[in-house]
Amino acid sequence: MLAELVCFEQKCGARFDIQEAIYNCPKCQSLLEVRLSGSADAAEWKKLWRERRTCNRPLDQSGVWRYRELLPFDGQEDRIVSLREGNTPLLDARHAAEYGGLDRLTFKHQGFNPTGSFKDNGMTCGVAQALRLKRQRVACVSTGNTSASMAAYASAAGLAGIIFLPHGNIAFGKLAQALEYGARTFQVEANFDQILALVRELAERLGIYLLNSINPFRIEGQKTIMLELMEQRDWRVPDWVVLPGGNLGNTSAFGKAFREMKEMGLIDRLPRLAVIQAEGAAPFYELVRSARNGAGQALNAVAHPETLATAIKIGDPVSWPKALYEVTVSEGTAEKVSEQEIADAKAVIGRCGIGCEPASAATLAGIRKLVVSGAIGGKDDVVGILTGNVLKDQDYIYQYHTGRLKAPDGTYLASRWQNSPVLVPYKIEAIEGLLQVNTAETSK
Ligand code: F0G
Repeated sequence: MLAELVCFEQKCGARFDIQEAIYNCPKCQSLLEVRLSGSADAAEWKKLWRERRTCNRPLDQSGVWRYRELLPFDGQEDRIVSLREGNTPLLDARHAAEYGGLDRLTFKHQGFNPTGSFKDNGMTCGVAQALRLKRQRVACVSTGNTSASMAAYASAAGLAGIIFLPHGNIAFGKLAQALEYGARTFQVEANFDQILALVRELAERLGIYLLNSINPFRIEGQKTIMLELMEQRDWRVPDWVVLPGGNLGNTSAFGKAFREMKEMGLIDRLPRLAVIQAEGAAPFYELVRSARNGAGQALNAVAHPETLATAIKIGDPVSWPKALYEVTVSEGTAEKVSEQEIADAKAVIGRCGIGCEPASAATLAGIRKLVVSGAIGGKDDVVGILTGNVLKDQDYIYQYHTGRLKAPDGTYLASRWQNSPVLVPYKIEAIEGLLQVNTAETSK
């Protein structure tokens, strides 16, 4: 496939060489996307991708590079660093389906990735592009997962990783990963949106390659989450794909993936995308609502975003024009959910034996709300995306299960599925006594 960078703003449509290190259109400042052109052979590709699953070649074992026909890295195979990203399971979740009001629900769990989030799918491509451009330093601003992923891939590729985090606002597991993988880590006393503006300028000044999701090559890698999903479903298109929205890179990637799959004859229709945000950080939800009512088409940033789901604590998402386009063409929607709804949904996903981090649970909380409002039908074929691993934010879990989880406004959240550890003396009779009571209760 031939690849070039194209301005996402249709009125501009300027085109640039794939080797240009740009993140916005130099002519009009809009977002850029990778445009692929060439002939597609849907049936042949489907066969090839299936065959690669049985091959031991590192690139074929990657759930990203297995689909390299749809990635802009022709002839770059030697530069690719893979940690065997992707390959994430589709899990049936009966209790979660019931909770959400659906007959059936499957989760595609991106927390099974090497660093525990969907960022790995994009990062392997972002780092491949950094290597193609012969950059030695890569940087990102992150609510945690991007930094964990970038730190790992930069080190694996022999690049210097530089990370900027909103001080005190990321889950400890993610900070720990960045340190362990060897990235230079700066904690900045500002929020994600403010730091991103600063780092964009810094990267420009110092010639550091920026690996936030504004980078179009990250988006290309994240497309493969949907390619893999469709392959796992034998190319049966679901009615809905539901995902949490923060900076909106994933929404942009998923929409692009489905459009390309349709253009290339891999699928015959688009699923509808539903983007779920936390109530305290929901500028995209407001935008979709106002666009639907024929009002404004521009995003009103939230100056002080608040949510315990720190991964999506973003008030000024950079990829909103792409995300709005993808939600519109897919006839999708957006929803917002409260802290309590996220906490409840997260506990339910835990009780399915699956587990996820708080931002991911917004998916199930959103499904439940959209089913109640009638937007999603109880019999619809729905895939929920769980974006991060349960172990990313252990503090949240411990506080929830011990009844000490406080919302950003200081009020306690109800721990409806509380499961506190029980302190017992070192005495067999005492423990036996406790367990006998429980046995009698459960056998009633
Ligand atoms: N879920 C998790 C677990 C995330 O880490 C993120 C984003 C999202 C959802 C939202 O995805 O930004 O593509 O809409 N985390 C970024 C980070 C911002 O820095 O790790 P999005």
